[in-house]
Amino acid sequence: MEITSAEFVISNTDVKKCPPGIFPEYAFIGRSNVGKSSLINMLTGRKGLAMTSATPGKTMLINHFLINNSWYIVDLPGYGYARRGQKGKTQIQRIIEDYILEREQMTNLFLLIDSRLDPQTIDIEFMEWLGEHGVPFSIVFTKGDKLKGGRLNINIQQYLKKLKEQWEELPPYFVTSSENRMGKKELLDYIESINKEMNT
Ligand code: GTP
Ligand code: MG
Repeated sequence: MEITSAEFVISNTDVKKCPPGIFPEYAFIGRSNVGKSSLINMLTGRKGLAMTSATPGKTMLINHFLINNSWYIVDLPGYGYARRGQKGKTQIQRIIEDYILEREQMTNLFLLIDSRLDPQTIDIEFMEWLGEHGVPFSIVFTKGDKLKGGRLNINIQQYLKKLKEQWEELPPYFVTSSENRMGKKELLDYIESINKEMNT
């Protein structure tokens, strides 16, 4: 799929104030600093569309971007950023949970995982929570450019192997890099296939 237009629509902390209408939306979630906003910029080919930062905790709001005038990309705040303090963490947690559980237009959640790391408890628990609530999600491994040689593949396979110990069926997964655009076509084609399915 070609992205011909991508525009920022609105930011807010309240799921009830998200844009009305029936356009399907695809939300990006994961730990702070995992690369959600960078991935959105890479997918849309618009460098400054979503705000990124080397310091974790950059995205604090639910951000809607209208794509091709027919569907939304949603940039969510990251979870698990310790320096926010307990109050800040609880607040972000609530924004994320309300959005995921209440937003009917949310068609698929992309859960971003740093491809360099072993499975982290916080991500595994988050996946369990998604499973308990029947939330449709896919996994997106990020920062693929940072692992050289066969390391990337080995890490992904190990990660999936650990997931299989817990899940009967693995969710769809993608391997990406916002630096070299790895996985761009696969992700956009996947979104396109869901959009088409919904229109038939
Ligand atoms: P929060 O909004 O704080 O939750 O973070 P985020 O998940 O949106 O991360 P963001 O996109 O802001 O990226 C965090 C840092 O990782 C930035 O310094 C990015 O440049 C870097 N980064 C993100 N994706 C990649 C990637 O694919 N490759 C490399 N090498 N760096 C990346
Ligand atoms: Mg961000």
